[in-house]
Amino acid sequence: MTTSDRPTVYVETYGCQMNASDAELMLGRLAECGYVAVGRPERADVILVNTCAIRDRAEQRVLGRLGELKRHMGRDAILGVTGCMGQRLGPALLARAAHVSLVVGPDGYRSLPELIDRARSGARATATTFDPDEHYRGIVPRRADGVRAWITVQRGCDYHCTYCIVPTTRGTERSRPFADVIAEARAVAEQGTTEIILLGQTVNSYAADGYDFADLLRAVGAVPGIRRVRFTSPHPNDFSERVIAAMAETPAVCEHVHLPMQSGSTRTLRRMRRRYTRDGYLACADRLRRAIPGLALTTDIIVGFPGETDEDFAETLDAVEQIGFDDAYTFKFSPRDGTPATRFPASDTIPEPVVSDRLERLIATVRRGSRERHLRLLGSRHEVLVERRARRGGAVMARTRDFKTVLLDGDASMLGRYHTVALTGTTGSTFTGVIVAPHGLAGTRTLPLAPAAAAG
Ligand code: 5AD
Ligand code: SF4
Repeated sequence: MTTSDRPTVYVETYGCQMNASDAELMLGRLAECGYVAVGRPERADVILVNTCAIRDRAEQRVLGRLGELKRHMGRDAILGVTGCMGQRLGPALLARAAHVSLVVGPDGYRSLPELIDRARSGARATATTFDPDEHYRGIVPRRADGVRAWITVQRGCDYHCTYCIVPTTRGTERSRPFADVIAEARAVAEQGTTEIILLGQTVNSYAADGYDFADLLRAVGAVPGIRRVRFTSPHPNDFSERVIAAMAETPAVCEHVHLPMQSGSTRTLRRMRRRYTRDGYLACADRLRRAIPGLALTTDIIVGFPGETDEDFAETLDAVEQIGFDDAYTFKFSPRDGTPATRFPASDTIPEPVVSDRLERLIATVRRGSRERHLRLLGSRHEVLVERRARRGGAVMARTRDFKTVLLDGDASMLGRYHTVALTGTTGSTFTGVIVAPHGLAGTRTLPLAPAAAAG
């Protein structure tokens, strides 16, 4: 089903932003070998499902999707599984799905063209060896987003929280060479992109060539043309005074931190091996807020961790109220094979109805808090960057520096532009606004193909 004489590839991405960024790397690597990205599996010679292993639900969804894709595949097409689930399950995936011929983990994307060639000639293969030196140096990502650029600065994780599969699926922490990151930032700026999001599993522990994350923020923030710098996700323990000072003193660094809390109970945090206490987390949030006026804080929270008592959960609710998060991603604990949290005694398992009830109460508390904060913002003025067309026709979606979503009347010609808006309404989570002053053009660029259907 090749549409030209060049082979076609379709990548479907699940999970986090790191995965979406990896999809851009894969497409970059394959473009070097002549592949053309297509937006539908039916039209592809090669289908890659770029997977997440963080919770069981993410994996079940992919397994279902692999079944569906079987029906959409062209006769000579091949199907590969990449990403964290590929790394975790390896050859077991080949055994489970006969129509999958390729399984490639996060450190194997450089050899994708050769692996695909082998699969297209009838072989089935897995490539799941970790390579602690793999930074994908020299591969130019094919970016899906025309307005902002995600730049991976660190891969892997050394924290080993007891619930988390990531150290198993992405290996040990390694930071990319400083000069490579800056060169990539310059390259995207030269193409007209004005916002950069630095990515890493614990991004603020970045350390390479004698530079730390503070140096990185200052250097990326100084790249000509870069107006906004964000990063995700930091670990509370890695917010040194140097990093906080760099955030406060670098005008491009936006006033938003996504600061995973996981729990508001010191006892649970200890069992999660988060390496901070409730007070330590509160103090970190406080230091950030004092240094950066107007800072928005968002977080991740897990409920139903083994052994979480009603008192522990009450402490989480209390921390959410005390801190006043702008938003939170909330999850039910999902046991992952091989992680230390699966080795707590069975009696520590929290019954499903209790977990569901806690999740509901947590979501209600988060919503109430963020709604209150958002109502207070009505009428205020903000600089926004227009990111994409909204689902509703005749509207665009823009973001403030502190990461609020604002819907504006407008069209695609506004993409990539900055405006000053007044916030006129809120659903509680997102805003509507009107432009009070145009802020100028960020730069122009042609939007590339949209290859990665990101799914959370
Ligand atoms: N179960 C539920 N949530 C998890 N997370 C990580 N591992 C698990 C798990 N086993 C959540 C954490 C993390 C976010 C990306 O996913 O909150 O910050
Ligand atoms: Fe990203 Fe974690 Fe999912 Fe891997 S398991 S794709 S690192 S969220």
